[in-house]
Amino acid sequence: MNPKKFTIITLIATSGLVALIALTATSRASSNGQKEVTFTRDVVPIFYKNCAACHRPDDLAPFSVLTYEDARPWARSIKEKVVSREMPPWHADPRYGDFINDARLSRRDIDTVAAWVDQGAKEGDPRDLPPLPDYAAGWNIGKPDQILSMTREYVIEPDAPDNYVYFTLPVRFSEDKWIQAAEIRPGNKRVVHHAIAHILTPRARARAGEDIDETDGEPDSGSSIFYKSRSLSRVLTFAPVIDDGASAPNGGSAFKRRSGHEDADGFSILLTSFAPGKAPDIYAEGTAKKIPAGSVIVLQIHYSSFRGALEKPERDRTSLGLIFAKEPPRKRVVSLTIPNHYFKIPAGSANHRVSASYTFDQDAELINYMPHMHLRGKDMKYEALYPDDRRETLLWVPRFNFNWQTLYRLREPVAIPKGTKIIVTAHFDNSSKNKYNPDPTRDVRWGDPTYDEMMIGWMDYALPESSK
Ligand code: HEC
Repeated sequence: MNPKKFTIITLIATSGLVALIALTATSRASSNGQKEVTFTRDVVPIFYKNCAACHRPDDLAPFSVLTYEDARPWARSIKEKVVSREMPPWHADPRYGDFINDARLSRRDIDTVAAWVDQGAKEGDPRDLPPLPDYAAGWNIGKPDQILSMTREYVIEPDAPDNYVYFTLPVRFSEDKWIQAAEIRPGNKRVVHHAIAHILTPRARARAGEDIDETDGEPDSGSSIFYKSRSLSRVLTFAPVIDDGASAPNGGSAFKRRSGHEDADGFSILLTSFAPGKAPDIYAEGTAKKIPAGSVIVLQIHYSSFRGALEKPERDRTSLGLIFAKEPPRKRVVSLTIPNHYFKIPAGSANHRVSASYTFDQDAELINYMPHMHLRGKDMKYEALYPDDRRETLLWVPRFNFNWQTLYRLREPVAIPKGTKIIVTAHFDNSSKNKYNPDPTRDVRWGDPTYDEMMIGWMDYALPESSK
């Protein structure tokens, strides 16, 4: 059946202003009486909004949804992944927390995509196609005010082992800079496993010399439980074992805890990170992260040849994009790491519980969460235990997936009174049933390499800019 289409174009000219209004009245029906669903009119707006951040040329995902030609061959798979809610990737239980970047499609959008595929994945009228969104040359934060790139290319050989490499970016800020948004663009997504940008303040530089460490402070006891081989840090096999870090004196962290202003103790400050699927850091109006005057920025990049999956050497030159706050902020952002460094996951264990905690010694507002584990990570929960003993679930990720290091950005900040304890609880699957498990026969402890584990509840919180 041929679709009928009536297009009324009205030209209105008002005092030199010319507006073109196109009214499209459509009445279409497919043979079974259902409304006809087309790519150009009904489906592509859903794809632009919910898929194109990854599914566009030269980005993360295996195909582009921007054109009918590119998307059509994937129609069957698209329906399957959309109906099962595997795509877009989102792993938080919707009962807890309200997140501004909640990627879940509405029921209506899922039905539209499914109906499109069921009806034969038709293109429709090319004139219905909405304009292509402006992706500002690949930056998800919009056009950066400043772009900082590695000064040289780094080459990864096909058989190279996992490696953490540090690059100091070519900038030294002569005045305080307030960051409204920050994003790392990997130069080569085949080898950049993840990347973290640290702010090294003058005090942090003086303290650390050139010895830059990813970890969040200096060892608590003076005797480090870590050792390094080829810049990869791992926990010593004979270090004490504490799985229930939440009940331990330091919450399971091997480092002195800083509170409030991260620079207060002279350590480096987390600026932003990249991992597959992670949203860039964008702060609400009036809230920003400070780069103190005299700071330099160091990129830590985890390069991986993904166990020999490369055919030829690959080159990388990764960049950092920054958007500065237009006005001095009312609140400043502090990044907090809630880790358990002492766990030990027994070989073969299918549901090993590990916890960590942090107690706030001042009022704060939580603004985002980012659970981090490696391949054996199964689930993670963030809870707040308030001073009045009320216990509230903040975030519950029931099926953690290492491939997706999701940043959960809260729509409204969560107020945390002084004395609140944040408890992070994770489970690990070190059994052979876990298809990602590199080795179920090994006891596993903390370490940088992907074949070791990590357990970190990351979060950002905000403090009034006047507080120290
Ligand atoms: C945050 C990035 C991201 C978003 C958003 C996203 N995808 Fe994906 N998608 C990926 C990546 C990466 C893969 C390949 C790895 C995987 O399958 O997990 C993938 C895989 C897929 C596949 C399977 C391809 C195959 O190899 O069989 C389909 C189908 C798909 N996505 C459809 C969609 C649709 C439709 C949307 C929007 C409604 C969407 N995706 C949103 C990143 C994304």
